Amino acid sequence: MVQDVTDKLQTFRRVLVTGGAGFIGSHFVRLLLAAGISEIRVLDKLTYAGNLANLADVLSAPAVTFIQGDIADPEAVAAAMAECDAVVHFAAETHVDRAILEPAPFIQTNVLGTQVLLNAALAYHVRRFVHVSTDEVYGEVLVGAVNEAAPLRPRNPYAASKAAADLLALSYYASYGLPVVVTRGANTYGPYQHPEKLIPLAITNVLEGKPVPIYGDGLQERDWLFVTDHCRAIAFALADGQPGQIYNIGAGNHRPNREVVRAILRLLHCSDEWITYVTDRPGHDRRYAVDPQALMALGWRPTVSFEEGLRQTVAWYQQRRDWWEPMKQGEFAAYAARNYGSRQRMG
Ligand code: NAD
Ligand code: TYD
Repeated sequence: MVQDVTDKLQTFRRVLVTGGAGFIGSHFVRLLLAAGISEIRVLDKLTYAGNLANLADVLSAPAVTFIQGDIADPEAVAAAMAECDAVVHFAAETHVDRAILEPAPFIQTNVLGTQVLLNAALAYHVRRFVHVSTDEVYGEVLVGAVNEAAPLRPRNPYAASKAAADLLALSYYASYGLPVVVTRGANTYGPYQHPEKLIPLAITNVLEGKPVPIYGDGLQERDWLFVTDHCRAIAFALADGQPGQIYNIGAGNHRPNREVVRAILRLLHCSDEWITYVTDRPGHDRRYAVDPQALMALGWRPTVSFEEGLRQTVAWYQQRRDWWEPMKQGEFAAYAARNYGSRQRMG
């Protein structure tokens, strides 16, 4: 799976993965283990989005250590980072709809937490700090695709908090020489994604016999990147990225939301009548699109087509009701009532 970067990754002995109990972070822990990294430390607060079940198959591996802690807590971070030679920083509040309802945790974790990590990385002289960011920092890109020099125009509190963290990370390279690499990945999907996000929400709603809410006209476009391709891209940035550089990660799989949901419905043998159009998200970005040429120059290519990735994802959620059914109770139900309860049906 990671043959192309395995040898290079093995120059790292101890890697700290923040947010490794979340969606993309847990896949990345599996990638590091498969690459033969001798010590992988996972630092995760286990918020509503963190789930040790995401790591169930790797937690007993001698190379993997799990530490429950907050990235904004300097003591927890110092203990977790001691003697690490690399940090791959995934931990974040990640859901745009939640950021619109309540921005404060996004600033606390994404901005202040990142600064605590950067300070510790300086103190421990880490050889590489990969800051995992998002294409949402560029704001909406109505035509074409942007490269890493494009201005940042975030339009919701999640994207703004990630943009602030990106700039902070890059400032630690310019001001202190910390070997920071920033990645800006596209919308990611695959197994173990929290059912609050569009693709797993659509699949699990249908499996529960509930309609699928589409915001506005459903013609907003995202570039869908399969999670293992995103993780391989981050591995390339970790192994070969230039300190102080930014790497866009895009798969070239642009699809309007309406088409994504229809493809899911077809895979589940359901008609379009399962779709309910509801009031749009405020400040909803119409389209994201990044040019990943800088990363491709390092040798990375996406390998999973959207059709294949979606087929695998739907099959996984069909098989893993044990994983997602508990996640749609309690906390999620309260959030969903707040988020969807206030939206009108548009017909
Ligand atoms: P996720 O919400 O599934 O997981 C986030 C993880 O971070 C959870 O395990 C959570 O417990 C942990 N966490 C949150 N606050 C923390 C804190 N204060 N201290 C320690 N741990 C904390 O997120 P994801 O989708 O896996 O995203 C991971 C990273 O990738 C994020 O930085 C996100 O901005 C970025 N990203 C995500 C996407 C996407 O489409 N999912 C795309 C591009 C970039
Ligand atoms: P999401 O998965 O929340 O990712 P992001 O907002 O970070 O792109 O949403 C993907 C797209 O799907 C986005 O355009 C918003 C839209 N969407 C819906 O139409 N209905 C929903 O219930 C959700 C959660 C998202």
